[in-house]
Amino acid sequence: MNILLIGSGGREHAIAEALHRSKSTADLYCAPGNPGIFEYADKAEINIEKFDEIGNFVNDHHIDLIVVGPEQPLADGITDYMALLGIKVFGPVQKAALLESSKDFAKQIMEKYNIPTAGYSTFTAEQRDDAHRYIDGHSLPVVLKADGLAAGKGVIIAENHKTAHEALDSLFGGSFGDAGSKVVIEEFMDGEEASVFAITDGNDYITLVPSQDHKRAFDDDKGPNTGGMGAYAPAPIANHDVISKVKTEIIEPLLHGMSDEGIVYRGCLYCGLMIKNGQPKVVEFNVRFGDPETQAVLPLIKGDFAKLLYSAAEGGLDKESVYIDEHKAACCVVLASEGYPGSYKKGFPISGLYSVKTEDLYIFHAGTASVDSKIVTDGGRVLGITAIDDNLGSAVTKAYSVVDKIDFENKFYRKDIAQKAL
Ligand code: AMP
Ligand code: GLY
Repeated sequence: MNILLIGSGGREHAIAEALHRSKSTADLYCAPGNPGIFEYADKAEINIEKFDEIGNFVNDHHIDLIVVGPEQPLADGITDYMALLGIKVFGPVQKAALLESSKDFAKQIMEKYNIPTAGYSTFTAEQRDDAHRYIDGHSLPVVLKADGLAAGKGVIIAENHKTAHEALDSLFGGSFGDAGSKVVIEEFMDGEEASVFAITDGNDYITLVPSQDHKRAFDDDKGPNTGGMGAYAPAPIANHDVISKVKTEIIEPLLHGMSDEGIVYRGCLYCGLMIKNGQPKVVEFNVRFGDPETQAVLPLIKGDFAKLLYSAAEGGLDKESVYIDEHKAACCVVLASEGYPGSYKKGFPISGLYSVKTEDLYIFHAGTASVDSKIVTDGGRVLGITAIDDNLGSAVTKAYSVVDKIDFENKFYRKDIAQKAL
């Protein structure tokens, strides 16, 4: 089949790689893409914000499936739009995408269908005084979240009431634009985080290898929250018992609940979990693959990934199309630009990209550009270096040995990826 992939980060590079090695993939296109992705895919010259342009491209190039990387097109209804044209999309419809684009919606669904998560209350700007009073009576730390999409930045964990009040004013004051016109205030959950991806056709599902992200910028989980500085899989905290709870207490009630609401959820359901004493609770749902976790998870998935995604989009999930390499582990170290997630310089040439000859190694491009046939830095997160090996310890050693060989000005990375699991 012919596939159009939407997106341009490390996640999309990992998806492109997995689609490229799938038997059922014929032609692969990507927009906007990046230089790493274009090693496997042809560039589709379209504006991904214009669904009509995407539709025309799909017709002209006989595309059988659109695979969506980021959340924004899903929140904007790309799947619903393409369905009217008879085009299949891997990724949920707009109403289902509310699980990510409205934290209040996600909390309501979890409450209604008894899915374990932090207790919460939601306030609109008109209820600002009530929200301040609610904070006064709340235990600490208290967590405030912009309701809408905020690129992972709309969450404030306040250690004292003063910070919480200031955060509330800042959210209602428009620090995240419309996303903060409603604010979810919730209990702080203690524990260790993990991410579990379910691929589903709305009825049936499979889970992929559990992984763990590293959200803070600096070692020992210090510094500001980022999009993710590294990941590894499998994450031992999400052991067999935890995964069976994730299935019966989270994924299944969620899929049944959505279907009771008249919404069929098709695509990847990202369960962001907090695990304590073997009990998983939901921190967040995302409606797409996580980044950088995908860069650790997909290299462990063998078989026909394209067929899996197509069957999820169509209905009739083909669970046998892929299998997980159970005897391997993956470590992904993100190479970022000094200053990220704040401001940073870009445009620096990257050396060593093509001289590394290591087996079971993936160099995923996240923020790169090709200038005068040289690859240069072009984002906060620049590359994801993923190594696969027989155990996590050797995957970590392998990934860091490559990190040392690839260089650019302002290179910055965490040195403790996966240490929690070792
Ligand atoms: P979210 O965008 O909802 O995933 O939140 C971003 C990060 O904030 C999560 O990955 C957690 O590390 C943290 N976080 C969010 N909600 C909570 C909570 N209720 N308790 C503890 N940590 C949280
Ligand atoms: N790694 C966090 C996310 O993709 O939202």
